[in-house]
This record gives sequence, C-alpha cells and structure tokens, in this order.
Amino acid sequence: MSLREARIDLAALRSNLRVLTAAVAPALVLGVVKAQAYGHGAVGVARTLADEGVDWLGVADLGEALELRAAGITTPVLSWLHGPDLDAAAAAQSDIDLGVSTVDQLERAAAVGATVQLKVDTGLSRNGFSSAEAISAFARAADHERGGRLRVRGIFSHLSNTSREDDDRQIALFAELIDAAHDAGLDPELRHIASTEAALTRPDARLDLVRLGIGLYGVEYDEGVDPAELGLTPVMELAGSVTAVRRVPAGTGMSYGFIDRTSRETTLALVALGYADGVPRAASRRGTVAIHGTTYPQVGRIAMDQFLVDVGDDPVAIGDRVVLWGDPATGAPSAGDWARAAGTIGYEIVTRVGARVPRTYAG
Ligand SMILES: Cc1ncc(COP(=O)(O)O)c(C=O)c1O
Repeated sequence: MSLREARIDLAALRSNLRVLTAAVAPALVLGVVKAQAYGHGAVGVARTLADEGVDWLGVADLGEALELRAAGITTPVLSWLHGPDLDAAAAAQSDIDLGVSTVDQLERAAAVGATVQLKVDTGLSRNGFSSAEAISAFARAADHERGGRLRVRGIFSHLSNTSREDDDRQIALFAELIDAAHDAGLDPELRHIASTEAALTRPDARLDLVRLGIGLYGVEYDEGVDPAELGLTPVMELAGSVTAVRRVPAGTGMSYGFIDRTSRETTLALVALGYADGVPRAASRRGTVAIHGTTYPQVGRIAMDQFLVDVGDDPVAIGDRVVLWGDPATGAPSAGDWARAAGTIGYEIVTRVGARVPRTYAG
C-alpha cells in the first residue's frame, strides 16, 4: 500500500443510508456532507448518496454547496452557515436553499429570488432567529413571499442532545414557532430539527425530514453507542504503512520526551501517520492499531508525521499495513476507540483526517 490511506467504503455508506432511511421513514433524509463529508471526501460521498436516492444534501457554507454543484450533483442542497458576505445570487443561480438565520440574510435572499429555509434557535444558542426575533422575521419573509421575491420552503432548528428533558423543551418551542410561522402566513413544507441521535431515539423529532451525518458514516453519535448494534458499518478505515522496524533492548526511549521506555527487548514499528494527518497527539500511548488483524499498543508521543507501535516479538515488516481505525468487525479499533483515547468524540477523529492522506474509494 501507499504511505497513508483513508479507505472509504462506499458499499458501507450505501448500506448505512438504507438502514437509516428505513428507520426514520416516512421522514425524508438529508445527508450531511459538510466538512468534506466529515473527512470522508464531500464529492465522493455526496455522489454516492445522490445515486442512492437521498432526498437532500446538507452543508454548512455556500462554498461547500457550490463544490457539489460543480461536481454535477443535482440533488437538492441546503446550506446553513453564512458570513456577512453571503452571495445569495450564487445560491439562487445554483438552486441551493439557504438556511437563513438573520434579517440581513433574508433580505439578501429576497433581493435575488432565492429559496430559503428559516433557521430558528430553540435553545442551542448558535445560529437561527431567536424566539424574540422570529415573529418579525416570519412577517418579513411572508411579505417577501407574497411579493414573489422569495420562497420559504422550510423551517428548522437544531437540538443540543443534552438530555431528554432539554430536547423536549426545544421540540416544544419549535412547535410553537412553526405555529407562529403559519400565523404569519407562511406554509413551510419542510420542518426539521433532528440529527442522527434524535432521529434514531425519538420518533417525535423526525417531523418531515431528518439531517443525518455521523450515522451515515457508521460512527457512534454518543459514547457507548455501538453503531454495529444499529446495523451501521464504519465507512472510513485509516491506515498507514510501516516505514521502519527496529529491534531494541529494554530501557530504550521512544519518541519525543521519552514518555515511554521499553520494559524489555522488543520490536518497534514506525508508522507514517501523525497529528498532521489527524492522529490525535492527545491519544499518545493510549491508542491501539491493528496489523494483520492483531491489536498492538501505540507507544510514545505521536509526532507530526509518525508514531511507534510496540509489536513485541511478532514479525512485522516494512510496508505492512497498519489500521488505526475502521470496522471493529475486521479486528480494527474504531474511531470511537481513538476518541476515548484522545478525550474527544468520534466526529472529531474522522473529520480531522488531514489533506495529506489520500482518500481511496472502494465498493
Ligand atoms: C445543523 C446540523 N444539522 C445536522 C447535523 C448532523 O448531525 P449528526 O452528525 O449528529 O447527525 C449537524 C452536524 O453537526 C448540524 O450542524
């Protein structure tokens, strides 16, 4: 194999989409492909989801949406995070729905005849009209719609997934805001608030559409939730090559700062992946890898481009493939395992795989 590789299993992606689509039916599915499809490669993932008939694709910013259109993907796209320089005309020309969170965005959209989905903040304190702003924003949007300057296709919000009670409160407020939108003369056909966790755990949050990211990639949405038990398969396998093998005596220091020294004679294998590639330095000496299906500990500090594995007395050779995370069914650690080793979440593990790592697509 090459020096480094993130192998993207498109058959697993298709299977996850089917499993999730069936689980949330009759709600529509929006596949979230922001941030290079959580590190999996936006165009490859989006094209596969589109071929598979996903209803919608979702991204954070307009640049990400335009990348999908430039690749010839014609599936409906929603983009929901904009700066003050939002180019609403580009969205309208490329048939991209704008998730609109401010009056300025609404006016920019109305000036060019864009289609919007109104984002309301029901408690996360991120983007979206607050309850206080929403009433006048709805009135303004309805006025634009009546005047033929704008189409309001949807209304949406986002949950904190803090607790059932916290989500209950957000869902109840969302229902009130939908009523207020109707009172203002709007009739948004798409009402949505759930991402993977709520879509799978609370049917009352599914409404017309669910926005699915992490579940599509087969990664846990919460610690202790096993994707396999949900019928989901990890889509990414991150692997690096062994680039050096060294037999060393007891007491040998390993990598920067000698946070580890060998306790006996052993064999160290050097792997060509580091924190520049998204292997979290915070996981130093806590990560594990699989070589030929056997699990070994990562030892010493993870450096920018490389780290060490203690393979004991096992025969390991230059060029051997070392899997950091992938499908546990193959004997590999999961992204969730590395997340726990680094004190973070599986989302961050897959999303931060660096640009230097080629994505190769299989299936
Ligand atoms: C607005 C919005 N919707 C949906 C998602 C997808 O969430 P998940 O990956 O948990 O399914 C995200 C991701 O953070 C998001 O920001």
